[in-house]
Amino acid sequence: MKVFKYFFTVPLLAFFSLNTYGQGLSNSHHDFTGAAWSGNEACKPCHTPHNANMEVPNSPLWNHQVTNASFQVYSSSTLNSFPSQPAGHSKLCFSCHDGTVAVENHSGNTDGTRYVSFGNLTTDLRDDHPISFEYSTTLATVDGGLHDPKITPSGLGGTIEEDLLENGYMQCTSCHDVHIGRNTQGCTGCHQVGGGGGMTTVSLSIWKSNQGSALCLTCHNK
Ligand code: HEC
Ligand code: HEC
Ligand code: HEC
Ligand code: HEC
Ligand code: HEC
Repeated sequence: MKVFKYFFTVPLLAFFSLNTYGQGLSNSHHDFTGAAWSGNEACKPCHTPHNANMEVPNSPLWNHQVTNASFQVYSSSTLNSFPSQPAGHSKLCFSCHDGTVAVENHSGNTDGTRYVSFGNLTTDLRDDHPISFEYSTTLATVDGGLHDPKITPSGLGGTIEEDLLENGYMQCTSCHDVHIGRNTQGCTGCHQVGGGGGMTTVSLSIWKSNQGSALCLTCHNK
């Protein structure tokens, strides 16, 4: 909390006066405009219209260096699914979030020195929610404590499978949206200002508020 106290007393106000409030990812931690290394373009560290990095199949025109790390995946005696090495959209997140690839390593650059300062999940995923496995009707039946993703509403308009899974797979993007289209408040959409700082109850990077564990209970039937 030391950081917040320091940060939210003076510099946050400076931030507010310099930036206009925007929509979507504006003023989020994925808004890279203003960073010299991003070329002052919000989307560029992640996307490019041409010559994209298609190492991860079906990437959304990816423009970042992709991790080569091998990961220790989640396991437990009660787990019924089979998490694999991070794949798909999760692998794209690990372009920056395993701490092995510099955030500046986009557009062909490979000699960056700046890494995520928080949110480094490391390559040991045994303490993280499992990802990169198929979440099917069969899994729900075998598990008994999961909703059927094919028929259960996500609360976002479609089913769990339609709104939260990537081709039937659980990924980081099953819970997170880096584009946070709901962000109209900038920093204060996630952080309290005054009162000691800290997070608000609603984190905009997740698809829905987790108040009362609403996000968890979308899939888990506990
Ligand atoms: C931090 C990295 C990151 C940034 C910055 C980013 N994106 Fe993305 N984008 C992703 C990832 C990962 C996916 C695939 C998962 C998903 O759909 O969210 C994606 C998917 C997309 C897609 C295809 C899927 C869809 O939702 O339609 C579009 C279009 C897109 N991004 C546009 C943009 C634009 C425009 C910007 C800049 C305003 C932007 N993105 C900034 C990471 C990023
Ligand atoms: C281009 C690098 C990059 C990529 C790719 C990226 N992130 Fe981030 N992310 C960051 C940085 C930088 C921060 C802020 C931490 C910091 O400043 O050190 C951050 C912060 C976050 C945070 C905490 C802030 C918030 O918005 O709640 C979450 C959650 C997050 N990232 C999730 C993701 C997910 C999920 C993906 C993949 C869909 C992803 N990130 C892809 C660079 C990236
Ligand atoms: C089962 C849902 C779920 C999955 C899957 C998931 N996250 Fe999260 N993540 C959360 C929640 C909930 C938070 C806390 C958000 C809040 O309250 O602000 C969080 C917080 C974070 C943060 C904020 C900083 C921190 O360390 O607390 C980062 C970064 C992050 N997640 C990245 C990722 C990445 C990368 C992946 C994929 C490897 C991922 N998440 C997968 C639910 C999930
Ligand atoms: C989408 C949600 C979101 C938005 C928008 C957001 N933050 Fe954050 N921020 C987070 C999360 C999540 C963390 C990690 C908190 C933790 O780990 O306890 C964080 C951490 C921080 C930290 C502490 C970093 C550290 O090293 O521990 C600072 C400072 C910060 N944010 C400032 C800002 C500022 C300034 C803005 C606006 C430009 C902003 N945040 C916008 C979610 C957000
Ligand atoms: C999009 C769907 C989804 C969301 C949202 C989600 N989970 Fe999960 N979770 C799953 C699936 C599927 C599994 C795999 C279950 C299995 O294989 O036994 C899982 C596994 C787990 C496990 C490991 C179970 C074990 O047997 O080791 C825990 C604990 C867990 N989730 C807690 C949470 C919590 C807490 C949240 C909210 C922050 C959450 N989940 C959100 C789908 C989800």
